[in-house]
Amino acid sequence: QQSVTLTALEPGTVYEYRAGGGKEFSAWQTLKTDTGGAFTALIFGDSQSLDYNVWRKTAAYAYSHDPEAAFFINMGDLVDNGEQYSQWRSWFRGASGLLPQIPVAPISGNHENYSLQWKPYRGDLYLNLFDLPLNGPEGLQKQAYSYDYGDVHFSVIDTQQEELNEWKPELIASQVSWLERDLAASDKKWKIVLVHRNLFRYQDGRPNELGSALFPVIDRGNVDVVFSAHNHTYGRSAPFKNGNVASQGTIYISSGRSGDKTWAGSRSKPQEVAFDGVLDQPNYMKLTVNDGKLTVTSLKQDGKLIDTVTLTK
Ligand SMILES: [Fe+2]
Repeated sequence: QQSVTLTALEPGTVYEYRAGGGKEFSAWQTLKTDTGGAFTALIFGDSQSLDYNVWRKTAAYAYSHDPEAAFFINMGDLVDNGEQYSQWRSWFRGASGLLPQIPVAPISGNHENYSLQWKPYRGDLYLNLFDLPLNGPEGLQKQAYSYDYGDVHFSVIDTQQEELNEWKPELIASQVSWLERDLAASDKKWKIVLVHRNLFRYQDGRPNELGSALFPVIDRGNVDVVFSAHNHTYGRSAPFKNGNVASQGTIYISSGRSGDKTWAGSRSKPQEVAFDGVLDQPNYMKLTVNDGKLTVTSLKQDGKLIDTVTLTK
């Protein structure tokens, strides 16, 4: 991996750049710096695929309909096998319509932590391929990190205790205390937490072990939205606080899938007010933050509306 840091850029300005060295250079590309105000970001659920053209099509459609998107998020399970480099090539090829122009803020999923033999794997390829903020807890940099964009503070948590137990037995515990500090230190108007695995049990929608560890911190941190992935279906909860639906609380959104892998067995949980199995075609979401409004809209790959919700503050 090679990375460079650009400094002294002007806000709201278009720059041209190319990457390379010696005689080998990429084509000239453009990037636009943040204006500091309203913005839209694209959010993609699991892109793991047998055919990464499906991911390419979802990403291309989303960006062509929101060419002003500031950046995109991929919710984990970017690829099916995290140690297989050919799949990473396919993922990057799939993202080639937007990655040269806008940054990606990825989240690691369980499939990033499977070796070629389908055994637990530390995820070195994922960690080496992306240049991410190093403000996570000691020893978990890049796996957990946080950043601000406009009025929003984003906190990324690695939920792969099962796969990483051999190397990181305190994975969740150390992130719980980090997240508490990270949320408390932010004075941003909106707070969003991003996790790959769900915090609710599939069977009855009650908090699972991961949820039990994170819900108190999420409640205390007044988090507005938690995005999860992993089950390849779309779902949006009613406001949820202290382990139950409440008049005010955090909205939990299960992102769906941007690749070709589906899960027919999933069903809506009791606290969900919107649900779609996204079996017919993939989906993606757009997050728009504008003056005291935060809107999340989920769309099918062809643009058909699944669900939209607006929070005001
Ligand atoms: Fe997953």
